[in-house]
Amino acid sequence: MLSRDEALALLQQYIQEESLLKHSLATEGVLRELARFFQEDEELWGITGLLHDLDYESTKDNPQKHGLKSAEILKDKLPAESIQAIKAHNGEMTGVEPTSKLDFALRCGETVTGLIMAAAYVRPNKLEGMKPKSLRKKMKDKSFAASVNRETIGECSKLNLELSEFLSLAIAGMQKIARDLGF
Ligand SMILES: [Fe+2]
Repeated sequence: MLSRDEALALLQQYIQEESLLKHSLATEGVLRELARFFQEDEELWGITGLLHDLDYESTKDNPQKHGLKSAEILKDKLPAESIQAIKAHNGEMTGVEPTSKLDFALRCGETVTGLIMAAAYVRPNKLEGMKPKSLRKKMKDKSFAASVNRETIGECSKLNLELSEFLSLAIAGMQKIARDLGF
């Protein structure tokens, strides 16, 4: 498997947009937190999160390829379970169904980063002191971060996590890398 340094170098080679780099780092942070919580392989989960959108810029006009192209690029660099999760994170388009714990962790984990980033931008203290309760409120407001799919966040139930518990882990994962996220 790629080292974290190699993974980051690869990401920077494929992704130019600052917000997408931050999204990738945020997803890594959340996946690491979830892996620690479940006593799973933190490195594997983290690097899967970091690289899950590797092909995003090159598949912009071809959304059904998003995830599949990354899988192609990464096939000799990451374990099969990681490749499967990357394909299934865009399962609606790729037709690859999520089944494993990592598949669902990546889906709800990468999606929740959008909600947390949007919430942080409108808070004076950004990520500091952010609570699940206020995020839940924002989730109910459909106009807030409207592109963030609430249903996908709800897939945390497939990990046997209550929404508040999941939000709290996701916040913690992003707080640990706040500086990398520009806060
Ligand atoms: Fe993503």
